[in-house]
Amino acid sequence: MTEIPETGELRAKVESISALPTVPSTLKQISSMLENSRLSVNELGSFISSDPALTSKILKMVNSAAYGFPNRISSISHAVMLLGLNVIRGLLLGVSVFDLMQKHIVGLWEHSMGCATVSRWIAQKKGIKEPEEVSVCGLLHDIGKVILLLHYPTQFDNASALAREKGITQHEAEKIHFDATHADVGSWLAMKWRFPINLVEAIGFHHQPHLSRQASLETAIVHVSDALVRAKGTVGDNYTRVPEIRPSSWELLGLSDDDVMEIFNILEETASEEAGEKECQEAY
Ligand SMILES: [Fe+2]
Ligand SMILES: [Fe+2]
Repeated sequence: MTEIPETGELRAKVESISALPTVPSTLKQISSMLENSRLSVNELGSFISSDPALTSKILKMVNSAAYGFPNRISSISHAVMLLGLNVIRGLLLGVSVFDLMQKHIVGLWEHSMGCATVSRWIAQKKGIKEPEEVSVCGLLHDIGKVILLLHYPTQFDNASALAREKGITQHEAEKIHFDATHADVGSWLAMKWRFPINLVEAIGFHHQPHLSRQASLETAIVHVSDALVRAKGTVGDNYTRVPEIRPSSWELLGLSDDDVMEIFNILEETASEEAGEKECQEAY
């Protein structure tokens, strides 16, 4: 396996997320729960169900376009049964960083949801057995940004400013400031949280998909989804350069022009659905 880079001190800090003073307590709690290798479906289900806000966020997510089930899923136990432990663990993490994303990085939530939707669509098209797992990869691929921002706000802002000034990508600027990128940070956490290797690699190599050894298809899907969602554009996501698509990943997926048009249409539809929902919420 191609090794995820080690950058000693940073990695150790990121891995001790439950000790970071800047990380909110719910995320710390969820983090230590995910580190438990014996976590059962029932335990996870009852943890989620004990929190009504978390329950409604998870149900909203499983009923969104990113998962596309034809019938409404109305209970956590049904969601766990349909989606499996890994997907629910990923969603739990996704919704728990949701509030952080909204507050700290404008547009990252919309970007992540867009990637989850597109990743699932492509995974299904490619006949992957568990397209929902690839959707979770899309949802969590930039989670390292949230952690970097929470723990190193100044350096993270400096990296973003450098990316804008020099017209380089965010991850290139992070490499200069941290000697690691949000992709590395995300993969360290995914490993610590015992996520499956396809999730670890898709997060860790989403900007360098050619380095993936054990999940090259999933990684290519997240890599291409990321670029397509950025190219389509979402709120607050338009100030750094759109990452380039690696020709090898593009070839691996073999998407046609019609496929790309369909992906853009889906993104447009889900964006206007979300905007409509926001308006409704604000009106009440
Ligand atoms: Fe990224
Ligand atoms: Fe991204």
